[in-house]
Amino acid sequence: MATPQYGIFAQGSSFALHLEFTTKLLDKVPDLDSPTNRMPALAAAIAELVTELDEHRAINWVVGIRPDLARELGMQNPASDYGSPGLNAIQTFGDTSAAPEPLQSDIWLFLHSSSSSEMFDCSRASVKALTGVASVAREQAGFAYKDSRDITGFIDGTENPSLVEASSVAIIHGGTAGAGGSVALLMRFVHDIDAFGTMPESEQEKVIGRTKADSVELGEEVMPEDSHVSKVVIEEGGEELEIYRRSYPFGGACEAGLMFLAFTNNPTTTNKMLASMYGLDGSGSSDRLLAFTKADGAAYYFVPSMEALAGLGS
Ligand code: HEM
Repeated sequence: MATPQYGIFAQGSSFALHLEFTTKLLDKVPDLDSPTNRMPALAAAIAELVTELDEHRAINWVVGIRPDLARELGMQNPASDYGSPGLNAIQTFGDTSAAPEPLQSDIWLFLHSSSSSEMFDCSRASVKALTGVASVAREQAGFAYKDSRDITGFIDGTENPSLVEASSVAIIHGGTAGAGGSVALLMRFVHDIDAFGTMPESEQEKVIGRTKADSVELGEEVMPEDSHVSKVVIEEGGEELEIYRRSYPFGGACEAGLMFLAFTNNPTTTNKMLASMYGLDGSGSSDRLLAFTKADGAAYYFVPSMEALAGLGS
């Protein structure tokens, strides 16, 4: 089987950085204004980026590509079935006021590490590797908060699949388009932590569906139907749908939130969770957590296998 990108699973990082790049400037470069000329230039630049990333040993990294663009680069993948820009589900949310805007870029780089100095050096080198081909459209740093908590104070990741199971949830199986790759959903949520924090702890727990101190799931008799857990736990054929989450909190004194990141081998799963959260599943209710946080951007990226990435350089 093709090898997944290591940074999807690497653990123990205290710092994270998301860089989203646009390739718009390629349209303005003479000789690169047609897809025939553009794709080889883009492939070579991504290959150079990967070579650069490999030299930063203290950095865990993941490279993602807009699903349609990945297909233009010769990489079939499940997310590209969703049409341009691979975001049918997110676009649907445009009808509701709480909905995230699709803020799809072309290339996404996720760096995580325990060294903020290495992160700084690596981010600069990465931007340089893509010079002339792609420029930074959005940048968001993140950090591990306390014992893996979201800044609401709740532990995030309790029900994530174990590292042994994560691969079967996140990685596209052999024999299918994009094998060894993954699909990443990235959403930037800005929280109203004051509004959340002024509620009594027992009320906060009803919003999330777990206890705050030790992340124990609320019992059926007290679990509200619109809690976050109720909304994202979806059973099909007696099995719960699963995704592999790698979110990091971000922020400072003025603005703070969560860079939600999930890997899946089937974007229909994340779309179903989003539809349930945003009340588009016919249930008549939306996730109460959304009263305290708003996504100001959402994007899907295809995360090719190591072999597919290496193929870009040949
Ligand atoms: C501001 C945004 C979000 C916050 C603060 C948040 C926070 C949390 C917390 C505290 C938990 C409980 C602990 C755990 O099992 O990890 C949780 C569970 C979960 N969340 Fe989120 N989440 C957010 C967005 C999302 C989104 C957008 C999705 C899906 C697209 C999602 C999917 C899940 C899933 C699948 C679980 C595990 C549920 C279970 O099996 O019990 N979350 N989240």
